[in-house]
Amino acid sequence: MAGRKRIAVLVSGSGSNLQAVIDAVCGGQLDVEIALVAADRARVPALRRAEAAGIPTMCLVPTAAQWRLPEARARYDAMLADRVAEVGPDLVVLAGWMRILSPVFLDRFGGRVINLHPALPGRFAGRRAVERAYEAARAGEIDRTGVMVHWVVREVDAGPTIVSEEVPIDDTETLETLIERVHRVEHRLLVEAIRRALAEPPKQPFCRPPVVRFRQR
Ligand code: GRF
Repeated sequence: MAGRKRIAVLVSGSGSNLQAVIDAVCGGQLDVEIALVAADRARVPALRRAEAAGIPTMCLVPTAAQWRLPEARARYDAMLADRVAEVGPDLVVLAGWMRILSPVFLDRFGGRVINLHPALPGRFAGRRAVERAYEAARAGEIDRTGVMVHWVVREVDAGPTIVSEEVPIDDTETLETLIERVHRVEHRLLVEAIRRALAEPPKQPFCRPPVVRFRQR
């Protein structure tokens, strides 16, 4: 009988989404082994949540250069990929991971990396997505935002959608209520996305450079 699928979860902060995954595993709604939780910041609550659940953790804090310089960033990504690869994950899950990963990392896992983005596909890429959606709603530009989980490609918060859901914004909404509602949807959607991503992994990596074919003369 095949063993349980293994996932590695990458986190940077509070880890409420990680907790949703842990709870789904413990409650029997998600049949995976969380083989590793990796963070890019020391002492974040997400690491404590993992430790409390008995999940192996590791933390690799980037140096100042590894935030800024492309070559140093690539070195960080290679080190991180080495550590994550050690646990042999079937899927890498970015759950509130606040660092852009280069192809050095992505190619290592053959495209089997998914990301949670607190907005609808194609909207509010990058940081503060909920805040920017809220401002757009206040300006009368939109009346809904949402949550998506997608396969990671080189472009930030883009890539084929695995699952997404709209979150309507009404006139009585405050930023706090919107953040809370988005989080609630995230927690449910991330679990569903992990299930689907493991059931239907990409047939070929999304992140490899295109193969250039030369025409024969
Ligand atoms: C989530 O809203 C996620 O979409 C965003 O960062 C937040 C992380 O929350 N990228 P948490 O650490 O899982 O509580």
